[in-house]
Amino acid sequence: MGFEEMWHDLAPVGRSDASGGYFRQPWTSAEGELRAWFAEAATARGLRLETDGLGNQVAWWDAGSGPAVLTGSHLDSVLDGGAYDGPLGVVSGLAAIDLLRDRGVEPARPLGVSVFAEEEGSRFGIACLGSRLATGSLDWAAARELRDRDGSFLPDALADAGLGEGGRWQALDGVGCFVELHVEQGRDLVDRGAAVGVGSGIWPHGRWRFDFTGEANHAGTTRMEDRRDPMLSYAMTALAAHKQARLAGERATFGRVSVEPNGTNAVPSRVTGWLDARASTGSALQELVEVVGRQAQERAGRDGTALEVTAESVSGEVAFDADLAARIAADHAEGDWPVIPTAAGHDAGILAAAGIPTAMLFVRNPTGVSHSPAEHAETADCLVGVSALADTLERLVR
Ligand code: GLV
Ligand code: MN
Ligand code: MN
Repeated sequence: MGFEEMWHDLAPVGRSDASGGYFRQPWTSAEGELRAWFAEAATARGLRLETDGLGNQVAWWDAGSGPAVLTGSHLDSVLDGGAYDGPLGVVSGLAAIDLLRDRGVEPARPLGVSVFAEEEGSRFGIACLGSRLATGSLDWAAARELRDRDGSFLPDALADAGLGEGGRWQALDGVGCFVELHVEQGRDLVDRGAAVGVGSGIWPHGRWRFDFTGEANHAGTTRMEDRRDPMLSYAMTALAAHKQARLAGERATFGRVSVEPNGTNAVPSRVTGWLDARASTGSALQELVEVVGRQAQERAGRDGTALEVTAESVSGEVAFDADLAARIAADHAEGDWPVIPTAAGHDAGILAAAGIPTAMLFVRNPTGVSHSPAEHAETADCLVGVSALADTLERLVR
């Protein structure tokens, strides 16, 4: 089963007829289908499948001995996401193994392809939940209290999916390095005219929940000056976040909001907005979130509303192993591959923070769009990515 055949198999899973985008939320039937697909792809290749209680998976080529080389990504998507963010790295990992076998490579160490669960944090709010639990950077005791939008607790969602519990995963203990291939989520490679690039690091980023509470009241009979309307406090905060990030060359987004009671003819009692903020350094990120929080508090004071800010998921700055990146980027027929940073989060960042030397490969995305149905990569570039990944793995398993 080559790259294109695997890609074709996955194309309908979790796809919305309305938008053409993907709804592959963790521990849903779509995601279960993807996990089963991966298990089958592993078995078909004679790879040994290991799965933990969360549904994190590794397909092992049990070759050689010593520290293992791991590649892979995730199969879950954001709400109405693209086809490539995640699956490209998993499918490319399997295709790279096929290519290494075609080349007659006999690895001197074990080589695995991984799938980490809930990378996007689209259901339980914490990005890279699967790899955080597997590496032990998040405790299961804390994770079991997480609830999704419908109020279901994580352990119940896992039980419904026929899975168990999360926690540190021994499968990662013998991993000597990790390489994640990913679709690029911007246009850097387009501008450089390169099909493939190597990651230098990940911007610090995180998610903060802003809960604004006011007083529910009648939309017609309540005089404008008598209102305590949390929608106003929220609206000003969204504008302030945009302005602060733009002025500083950083990123701030309110992409999710929930309103109670969400009625057209009532002043809301509560508005919750989730701020996704990213900056080039940890101190710049802290400063950005503090400024937005301060302006939100001031506005809430004027509106007669109350504000509580809660950090839900924060990831520090990641610098990938510079030697590994330089080694991967150098000496190719088409010249050196560019080494570029990203403002997107990845399991690779979690594994790097856990002390595993880690690298990333990016594949050109002609639209530069991601987390949207418009995300794209040309098949020819994906195949260059597969061969780049195979070259990289071949060097690492020697
Ligand atoms: C994941 O893709 C993220 O950067 O939020
Ligand atoms: Mn993503
Ligand atoms: Mn991703």
